[in-house]
Amino acid sequence: RFENITMAPPDPILGVSEAFKADTHEMKLNLGVGAYRTEDLQPYVLNVVKKAENLMLERGDNKEYLPIEGLAAFNKVTAELLFGTDNQIILQKKKRKSVIDVCVFCSLKVATIQGLSGTGSLRLAAALIERYFPGAKVLISSPTWGNHKNIFNDARVQWSEYRYYDPNTVGLDFNGMIADIKAAPDGSFILLHGCAHNPTGIDPTPEQWEIIADVIQEKNHIPFFDVAYQGFASGSLDTDASSVRLFAARGMELLVAQSYSKNLGLYAERIGAINVVCSTADAATRVKSQLKRLARPMYSNPPVHGARIVANVVGNPELFSEWKDEMEMMAGRIKSVRQKLYSSLCTKEKTGKDWSFILKQIGMFSFTGLNKAQSDNMTNKWHVYMTKDGRISLAGLSSAKCEYLADAIIDSYHN
Ligand code: LMR
Repeated sequence: RFENITMAPPDPILGVSEAFKADTHEMKLNLGVGAYRTEDLQPYVLNVVKKAENLMLERGDNKEYLPIEGLAAFNKVTAELLFGTDNQIILQKKKRKSVIDVCVFCSLKVATIQGLSGTGSLRLAAALIERYFPGAKVLISSPTWGNHKNIFNDARVQWSEYRYYDPNTVGLDFNGMIADIKAAPDGSFILLHGCAHNPTGIDPTPEQWEIIADVIQEKNHIPFFDVAYQGFASGSLDTDASSVRLFAARGMELLVAQSYSKNLGLYAERIGAINVVCSTADAATRVKSQLKRLARPMYSNPPVHGARIVANVVGNPELFSEWKDEMEMMAGRIKSVRQKLYSSLCTKEKTGKDWSFILKQIGMFSFTGLNKAQSDNMTNKWHVYMTKDGRISLAGLSSAKCEYLADAIIDSYHN
């Protein structure tokens, strides 16, 4: 009976926003969820999104069901954005017949289907692993985004952790990471954050990515990328996709989940994709058919609105270039508060503590190194809401609040 159902704990990330709403203190600050805010700490709808929506209204687009795999125009542009338009794996093969090139068949080596943003796309990939790789293990970084574990648990896919964060250097434990990937059973799935690692903000260097790819290839593992911040970490769509492209260029099979929540600010539209790169076009066709089969009983077919926005923005040169400017603006604002927070901490801290790790981290977040008790102090005493792993979302910080936040962090460190 329902009577026997126990109370679930609040979500470690989304639950923070609920607690923030209930607080009435005037200095309260929500640095929990990774959602971009303006300098006035208000949500931001991108101008290109409004323009795309106007275009959609003018056209009078209908609300018919999408196919199970989603909007074709979206699936095309999302794969192009990820892999690069000239990438061999998404180009149609041309066969030379006499003097003219004839496109004989579509030889996409990637199965791309629209997903319910990052989470829904990861969940679909997890279902594919559960069904077609029984007993396979997924290795996730320690730490990782809180929802990764939920996703694999619910899909009944085994997971274990590889070392990633080194608290002594507040940097990457590269040797630990490599050793753990080497020690995993051959043919494991290795979950990697394409850029702007969540929650640490610490990414491997391009040289380290090469070594990671070497080890994954040697072990016959399958890389599984979570790309939630393309364009948002560095401000460049290409730079932020370089890790994925490096693996794809080696001809490896891989899984890549994408989200447009952050880079297009489409949080509530739940728009993203899962891309499965296969070694042949034939395999990609079969994988796609199975992804559709998995999606149908889960949610039938995906929502259209966000997919149309993405297709309109990416597919229209004018809007595309405007989008890149807006993304740079958002990434730039985050970089500037990162710098200001760092300066405030250096000025206020009297013990000579080195805060330079804040500047080395990239993306929306900073991993402060605050433990649970210290994070509790941030919230209970200073009304600064954050996740209990010590992560703060700099996207929710304004210049005006940097000094206050620095006071809160210093007080909590010495607590
Ligand atoms: C975050 O990490 O804050 C975001 O990705 C939001 C979420 O769904 O957890």
